[in-house]
This record gives sequence, C-alpha cells and structure tokens, in this order.
Amino acid sequence: MPRFLSSRPDSRLIPLPWETPLAEWPTEHLVALPRGISRHVVRFIKVGNSVYAAKEVIEDLAIHEYRMLTDLHRTDTPAVEPLAVVTGRVDIDGEPLDPVLITRHLEFSLPYRSLFAQGVRPDTVGRLLDAMVVLLARLHLVGFLWGDVSLSNILFRRDAGEFAAYLVDAETAEMHEALTDGQREHDLTIATTNLYGEFSDLEAGQMLDASLDPQKLVESILTRYRELWAELTGVEEFSDQEVFRIENRVRRLNALGFDVAELSIETSPAPDGSHIRIQPKVVDAGHHTRRLLRLTGLDVEEHQARRLLNDLDTFRARTNQGHVDEAVVAHQWLTECFQPVVTAIPPELRGKREGAQIYHEVLDYRWYASQRANREVPLVEATWGYIQDVLRALPDEAMTDTRAIGDERQLANPYDPSQGFVDDDGPMPEDPWEAAADGVEVAPSGFLDIEALRTARKRG
Ligand SMILES: Nc1ncnc2c1ncn2[C@@H]1O[C@H](COP(=O)(O)OP(=O)(O)O)[C@@H](O)[C@H]1O
Ligand SMILES: [Mg+2]
Repeated sequence: MPRFLSSRPDSRLIPLPWETPLAEWPTEHLVALPRGISRHVVRFIKVGNSVYAAKEVIEDLAIHEYRMLTDLHRTDTPAVEPLAVVTGRVDIDGEPLDPVLITRHLEFSLPYRSLFAQGVRPDTVGRLLDAMVVLLARLHLVGFLWGDVSLSNILFRRDAGEFAAYLVDAETAEMHEALTDGQREHDLTIATTNLYGEFSDLEAGQMLDASLDPQKLVESILTRYRELWAELTGVEEFSDQEVFRIENRVRRLNALGFDVAELSIETSPAPDGSHIRIQPKVVDAGHHTRRLLRLTGLDVEEHQARRLLNDLDTFRARTNQGHVDEAVVAHQWLTECFQPVVTAIPPELRGKREGAQIYHEVLDYRWYASQRANREVPLVEATWGYIQDVLRALPDEAMTDTRAIGDERQLANPYDPSQGFVDDDGPMPEDPWEAAADGVEVAPSGFLDIEALRTARKRG
C-alpha cells in the first residue's frame, strides 16, 4: 500500500495507479503541458479540475525536496507548492518503485524554452535575468542555498511588462539560519556555469538574438545580483545633516518591490557632528502586492500590482475623490474598472492570460488606441478591441497542450519533452544544463550529499 506524506492531502490522488512506473501511466491521467527537460521522470497529472506535477525520485531526495519547498512556502518565497510524497510503492510483481513527489502545477507558468521558442527580444532576456536575480536574492535572504541554479529549474510568469521567477527544483537545496558570503558566491558560480551552458545551447539552436553573447549575459547576472544585494542589505553611513537619506533608502527599496520590516539605525559622535549608520535587517518582498491585496483583495504579481495601483490612483484623480478614503475608492475601482474587463473575456479565451495580466495589457492597448484615435478610448471599447486584435491571436499559456504548440515538429512523447522529436535520428537530446550542473564541484556541506545518494542508489 502506498503511503502519503502530506500536510494537505488530496484524497483524489489515492486511487491513481501508484503500482505502475510513472513513465508508463495511462494517458487518461496525464496532461501534456510545456515543461523543461528533466533528469527524472516528470509528468503532469490531472485529478478533477486540478493539475499536479509528479516527479519520480529516490526517497531521500523526494522527502528532502518536499521539506525544502514547504520551507519556501512558509516564508512566502516564490516556488512551486509541494503537495505530497507518495512512498511505499510496489509494482504488480512486488518490486519496490521510487516515490513520487507531487507539486501543484504553477498556472500560467512558462519554462524558458517555451518562451525562447516563441522568439524573445533582446531586452526580454534582460528582464528574465532580472527576475531570476530577484528570485535568487529572495532565496538567499531567507537562508536558502539553492545549489542548482539554472533556467531549467525556474518557471517564469508574466508580470505586467516584466517577469516573475519561481523556483521549481529544490533537490540540492539547503536551508540555513543565514547564508555566508561564500555560500552565496557558490550559488552564483553555479548560476553562471549553468546559464552559460543554457544560453550557448539556445545560441546553437538559433533561438538567441544574434546581438546577445552568452558570456556577457552571465557576467551581467553577477552585476545585477551584487547591486540588488547591496541595496537590500548594505550599510550606508552619513552625517546627521543628511537624515533624509534614511527615507531615501526606504523609498529605493520600495521601488524595488521590498518593504523594510527592520532597519538598524546607529548614531555615533564625531568631531563634525554625529554620524548615522543604517542597514536594513529584515526586508520583505511584495511591497505593491501586499498593498493591492489589502485594498482590493486581488493577489497578483509585484509589477502587476504596481500597474494596477497606478491605475487606481488615476481613477481616484479622474473621479475627483482625492479626499475619499482609499479603501472606498479601491472598491469602486474594482467593480467599475477591473471586474468589467476581466468578466468581458469569453470563457474560451481565459486560458490565454491570467486576469491581472489581461488588465495590464488592456491598459497598454487603450493607451495606443487613444494615441491613434486622438481621443480617450473608454475601457470597455479598449477591452473589445484587445480581445479581437490581441488576445485571440495569442497562444494559450494556462493549458497549452504541447501537441498544439505552433511548432511544426512533433514530440516523440507529448507527455515527456525530454524524449525529443519523432524526426530525430540521432541520440536523445542531451540536457546541457543538467550536464553542466553535474560538472560543477559541489563542496561537501556535511548536510546532504546528493552524489553519494545517487551512487549508492546505482549500486543498490
Ligand atoms: N509544479 C510545477 N508546475 C509547472 N511545471 C513544473 C512543476 N514541477 C515541475 N515542472 C516542470 O518539470 C520540469 C522538471 O522538473 P524538475 O523538478 O526540474 O525535475 P528534475 O529534478 O528531473 O530536473 C521543470 O523544468 C518544469 O518545467
Ligand atoms: Mg530540474
């Protein structure tokens, strides 16, 4: 009998064919959604209206990853949500099968290869790297050492004009009280090695814009990360004539999407007046997300929240309600602006974009339409125009069946992109980033030795 380790069990999982190796599951339980190439057998499974990702993996790793993802969930760090580990599986001959880790499928998420296959503008690559760097800094802030930073272990979601990055693979991770500089550098080294491999591979497949150079791209990760980290955690010193710099620092952090929960301020006497030394001690991501949630109950990504809050401010000014309580205006905005746009989307087009993203795109659309028409185009009119001109033509992002992707080539197995295309003659595609990860020297941490586990498993 399989055992379910779970804090929020879904009883619909119990009758699934756990006695069958995941790779052989009948397709009635599976959905073919885009995903990255993986080392393990990974399938998307469907129970009722829910879609879960299932990964078949040795027991220690399954449980370790489940715990790591649970920790991330608790600290509100963007990662896939763990649901259960199914252990104690045996096949019909009584032979043991590896456990399965189950996570909730992250809706509207895009593996980077799907993004690049659609064609990516050079500045978009910069946005993806920014999203990745924010994710890495957020992980490091909570003491999470990833160990396997790579684009294939990240899922991207559209976030207004930017992207939000989520961690998907926590197999090699470790949670600490706080990370040392050396540990953070270790993750950065792995990130640069893996991303260099991934970008070179995209370049070889002619999916990387010719103006971009893999080496320069990975170097920019280091600069971006170090700048962000310095802003989030760095010490600033100034004279007591410049107290405004405290406020400035908080504003800069807010602009980056962070709230300062704890700021240490020390003053020390100096010959020319006293000196002030400030350092953020606790910063929480999601500054705009939290504010929008408080005002409207909408839970959206950070840049989407910023865009929606701006629109709310505009609405307030336009309706002359500067003196009215913000929460009251927010409710009006929700029912008069936001909801009409989202409910106008025909049900069959809802899988293309998430509500907040649609609203953001409609605002953009309205701006261009107003410029063109030389008049203020009303929101309802813009929504209809957007549905006809933009939304209908977009590929589905919620539930894209990999078989239906604009790609002419047919996958050998629509449930497993790792197996390549039917017209591939040569060997199976190698996973250059996983291979690069294998090559990286992982300093023994005395905590979890993945290689030793794998070797023991191979021998066993
Ligand atoms: N919860 C999830 N939501 C969406 N996609 C997922 C989820 N879990 C896994 N995937 C997809 O499956 C791929 C492989 O998963 P991963 O955990 O990285 O496996 P491996 O350990 O074999 O590398 C990921 O790149 C991602 O595209
Ligand atoms: Mg992976």
